[in-house]
Amino acid sequence: MPNANQILALVKSHLEGDDKRFKEVAMQIAAVEARSGHTILSRSIADLIKSNTGVRLVRSLAPLNMDVSEYVLSVDNSYRLSDLICSEVIKSKISRIIKEYIHRDLLYQNNLSNRNKILLAGPSGTGKTMTASILANELHLPLYVVRMEKVITKYMGETSLKLSKIFDLISNVRGIYLFDEFDAIGMQRGMENEVGEMRRILNTFLQLMERDDSDSIIVAATNAKEVLDTALFRRFDDVIEYQLPDQQQIEILLKTQLEPFTTPDLHIDKIAKALEGRSHAEITSVCADSIKESILSEQQLTDNIVIQAIEQKHSQIMSA
Ligand SMILES: Nc1ncnc2c1ncn2[C@@H]1O[C@H](COP(=O)(O)OP(=O)(O)OP(=O)(O)O)[C@@H](O)[C@H]1O
Ligand SMILES: [Mg+2]
Repeated sequence: MPNANQILALVKSHLEGDDKRFKEVAMQIAAVEARSGHTILSRSIADLIKSNTGVRLVRSLAPLNMDVSEYVLSVDNSYRLSDLICSEVIKSKISRIIKEYIHRDLLYQNNLSNRNKILLAGPSGTGKTMTASILANELHLPLYVVRMEKVITKYMGETSLKLSKIFDLISNVRGIYLFDEFDAIGMQRGMENEVGEMRRILNTFLQLMERDDSDSIIVAATNAKEVLDTALFRRFDDVIEYQLPDQQQIEILLKTQLEPFTTPDLHIDKIAKALEGRSHAEITSVCADSIKESILSEQQLTDNIVIQAIEQKHSQIMSA
């Protein structure tokens, strides 16, 4: 049987939405049950935890009777601010959002409000989605990802209805709401003669956002900043611009991703040069491929293995 502390930790982590802790405690309980000979119970707990893919439907829909599960997903992962490799400017902007959220009551008392409408712009794979997840973890809030491709349909009325349901959710269920691929509605140029329609959808979104006085944080992300209407920028409390990593950042990324497989024979500076112009996501993936190759070929990690992984990734991208 789980002990009292484990039961308390399980309830506490569930109520706080701390899924990582919840899973850890559940796995501890599974281990205790296994040691007591309750193999079936132990395996069932472990299977349940492992089958959770990290993406699930929004939990709080039933009581609110809001059918948004088709286009809003609840996503778990455990990124922290220290995991993000970026410029000091980006880091301090994110820290400020976190700080203002934590002290929002103090700000309200002084007729001020915390920054909670944020636009993230920059190339693919530079940490925009990761930032939304960092905000969620640092502030112990759930992360909800709005699937814009499902929200925007050719029927204007339907799209507006979906958007207003999402904003109802935003005000009823505190969380980080990521509108990914925001350019889908933020576009200046629409598809053929749908420019007017897109503009109306964008206006609906902006009105809903302006009216929002919830305790949630709205994050819009795009990698097509140039097609966004510049007037849109001032409707957000903050705009964070992401860039591809510079040489120093590539080296830090390589060191953290290749740890603990690095050896003195590995020339991080040389590898970093070969990765110039690549995104954080590509570099992370090259590191994972290199480690896999080293494990499966039972060889130490060498420059050659990493360079080969870079070339493979490059040809993969070119043929895509
Ligand atoms: N700045 C970063 N520091 C460390 N790792 C990063 C960074 N950016 C991206 N990564 C790694 O790449 C993965 C993908 O990044 P992410 O999904 O945040 O990119 P994105 O900017 O949202 O891209 P897209 O525009 O294609 O949606 C992350 O899960 C992380 O492993
Ligand atoms: Mg993204």
